[in-house]
Amino acid sequence: MTAISQTADGAGDPGAAKPAADPERRAAVITACVVGGIGCAGVAVPIVASFGPSEREKAAGGPVDVDVAAIPLGQMRVFEWQGKPIWILHRDAAMIASLKTHDTLLADPYSKRTAYPTPPYVLKDSSTRSIKPEYFVGIGICTHLGCSPSGPFGANENPQLGDEPGFVCPCHGSTFDLAGRVFKNKPASDNLQVPPHQYLSDSIVLIGEDKKKA
Ligand code: FES
Repeated sequence: MTAISQTADGAGDPGAAKPAADPERRAAVITACVVGGIGCAGVAVPIVASFGPSEREKAAGGPVDVDVAAIPLGQMRVFEWQGKPIWILHRDAAMIASLKTHDTLLADPYSKRTAYPTPPYVLKDSSTRSIKPEYFVGIGICTHLGCSPSGPFGANENPQLGDEPGFVCPCHGSTFDLAGRVFKNKPASDNLQVPPHQYLSDSIVLIGEDKKKA
């Protein structure tokens, strides 16, 4: 299946027509944020997506490729796949280190729960939940009732996280670490989903397909 290219600066595929917002696809994302009737108040990172011409509409649902090299260190960009917000967080060394120290605070530190199965190829290191430690690829939809968490926040930047860096769901207060693992005693009991994905090169990630099981 043909992959759709998305770029971290929002420019999209160079060969694409000028992006035009597709209300249906945007609505799908927004709907995911408001399940439960509560708004998606705290989305901190805008979706970077190419809402393209009719060819793209035909390819909707297929894999999308992203060049992660364009994402600045320490920052996150949001892309779109199957109408879902796909987070790619470029973690720096301190962010990665933060994941090694708080297993006892997490509800499912090793991603063993099966409601939203985590691809096994990102669990070679259960703390990073990624193929490459520096890039977390996750679905930015809270596993409680579908809001989109805000973040990433650094340590002591958000009172709900305290001295842990991570994400906060604005709807009912679930908190997640920088690998999408949910903290204990929160409304959400499952970690954020990791979509199927694989690296096509050092920096190009294909989201929606993992035949290589990279
Ligand atoms: S939707 Fe309820 S905590 Fe996220």
